[in-house]
Amino acid sequence: PAPVIVAIDGPSGTGKSSTSKAVAAELGLSYLDTGAQYRAITWWMLSNGIDVEDPAAVAAAAGKPMIVSGTDPALPTISVDGEDASGPIRTQEVTAAVSAVSAVAEVRARITGLQRSIAAEAAEGGPSAEGKGRGIVVEGRDIGSTVLPDADLKIFLTASPEARAARRSGELRGKEGADLAATQAALLKRDTADSSRKTSPLKKADDAVEVDTTELTLEQVVECVVTLVKEKQ
Ligand code: C5P
Repeated sequence: PAPVIVAIDGPSGTGKSSTSKAVAAELGLSYLDTGAQYRAITWWMLSNGIDVEDPAAVAAAAGKPMIVSGTDPALPTISVDGEDASGPIRTQEVTAAVSAVSAVAEVRARITGLQRSIAAEAAEGGPSAEGKGRGIVVEGRDIGSTVLPDADLKIFLTASPEARAARRSGELRGKEGADLAATQAALLKRDTADSSRKTSPLKKADDAVEVDTTELTLEQVVECVVTLVKEKQ
């Protein structure tokens, strides 16, 4: 099959990560979690005493950390300055700060450049491409609209706010004692920030296929996306 670049965007709790990893694994494609990259740069800023509420300070530091993203769907790791960041980037502290950091244009320019080179390498079968030239699934908020406007397939996942909060608190259960109402409030706050920022907001690309996952199982969403990808290969 021809190499494919697949963009999967949407707000949090719509099943983006689970779907993207499963589709990549099933089709032998590379996988890139762009939210993890924004989380990683946010974690580095918090660890290095940068005031994340100060856009000028964030902009000045945007180029400093060395971020390396794993692209194996079975093992999606991310490191910052050589240190494995996959655990620390999922804390509530990072989740609460990431929208402010990702809204800064310098941060987006830096991360977008990384994303484009990873995607190009995966399509061409470059040295670090797990998919060996078969292509890549890239998940995020602005992949189809801004980062990879020429992607072969663009998917935009949606779900009701209730379904999204229920999924997210299911993931968090037992970890940080998050309750449903607090999870829903935090999630909506982050989506509002992500959708209303000036630089590259969360937005459905005009040519994206919208899939409402509220009433669907993960298997059904994966099957739907896999079918659409195969049509492009
Ligand atoms: O997908 P995840 O919830 O891990 O993303 C964390 C945050 O990273 C989002 O809330 C958003 O602020 C930012 N993000 C972004 N653009 C992307 C992916 C994530 O701004 N393409």
